[in-house]
Amino acid sequence: MADTSPPRLASQLVDHRGRPLRDLRISVTDRCNFRCVYCMPRAVFGKGYNFLSRAELLSFEEIVRIVGIFTGLGVRKVRITGGEPLLRRNVDQLVRALTQYPGLELTLTSNGVLLPRMAEKLAAAGLHRVTVSLDALDDATFQQISDVDLAVADVLAGIDAAAKAGIGPIKINMVVKRGLNDHQVVDMARHFRGSSHILRFIEFMDVGTSNGWRLDDVVPSREIIDRIDAVFPLETVEANYSGEVAERWRYRDGSGEIGVISSVTQAFCHACSRIRLSTEGQLFTCLFATAGHDLRTPLRDGASDAELAAIIVRLWQAREDRYSEIRRDNTHGLKRIEMSYIGG
Ligand code: GTP
Ligand code: 5AD
Ligand code: SF4
Ligand code: SF4
Repeated sequence: MADTSPPRLASQLVDHRGRPLRDLRISVTDRCNFRCVYCMPRAVFGKGYNFLSRAELLSFEEIVRIVGIFTGLGVRKVRITGGEPLLRRNVDQLVRALTQYPGLELTLTSNGVLLPRMAEKLAAAGLHRVTVSLDALDDATFQQISDVDLAVADVLAGIDAAAKAGIGPIKINMVVKRGLNDHQVVDMARHFRGSSHILRFIEFMDVGTSNGWRLDDVVPSREIIDRIDAVFPLETVEANYSGEVAERWRYRDGSGEIGVISSVTQAFCHACSRIRLSTEGQLFTCLFATAGHDLRTPLRDGASDAELAAIIVRLWQAREDRYSEIRRDNTHGLKRIEMSYIGG
């Protein structure tokens, strides 16, 4: 049947499944100082790997312009990601430039080790929140996962630096992989209880094609909640907003909040309002996409803001992605983009 509905206003832009566009995640570098086994395994991302060259990267001016267009289309939150975003030189200047858009929430995901050096600058630039990835509290497990010669204390120092700089509340993301770090779940909960940081447990996902994912490796969120609840009793908390990725829980004794992100066992595609911009200016409407949509070429060929907006509107209106809801059906063997390229 022909679509007879009136053209939608930009502020009501929705995709083919009625989902609005709210979150823009921007990868500012495809490089990382870690080699996490579930994300950038050294066997794949070692010496011979071709990272992007400088000319291929979007400049801060280009990113700021694109963000302006997105805010006009309904985006309310920007997350700066990588690789490791703090490896991009002067990333605080990007944050500062983005504060020109009123009402835009500015967040960043980092592995934490450069935060002692950067936290004050980022806070001064106007960063609202930060999320730090940490998968274990014991050095042996941490090193086994991140494949770097650093200590857990280096990440904890980053978290402390962010807290001291007043960026918060801080979220800590722990990807849980069975047999690798699931023995750390309760220890992590114990460590961050009462800290006012929000620890979130993430089901290991089949992003990219290099991490050797198997369903058996996934520890369902239900199991994580049961394990913690047995030691520190928990109760559920209402979502902050519709489409929130993490399901919220709190300790019954009032010592804080945790979250679980169940993208494998309870997919949340029905409310997915996220779009991703890669380091080189490709747009991805799903974390599991096999191809992006080039925005850099029209941008560098002199397209106007209205023309760029029209490209994004067309892309979003045609969007049907719901990979996590249908992953069982299919798609193994497809060449998907890597998490380190698109920033999670
Ligand atoms: P806030 O609620 O603003 O703190 O952010 P968030 O939870 O949306 O973002 P964050 O980057 O911390 O997401 C945590 C993890 O959830 C990511 O590292 C991914 O593993 C997973 N995740 C986030 N967004 C998506 C998504 O759109 N699809 C899937 N399948 N997983 C996602
Ligand atoms: N499954 C789930 N989360 C992942 N991340 C990276 N790879 C995966 C994966 N395979 C998350 C990390 C980090 C963010 C950059 O992406 O935990 O928080
Ligand atoms: Fe780097 Fe984060 Fe990927 Fe680990 S998960 S390799 S810290 S981008
Ligand atoms: Fe959104 Fe794709 Fe993730 Fe589903 S799998 S929540 S559509 S990014």
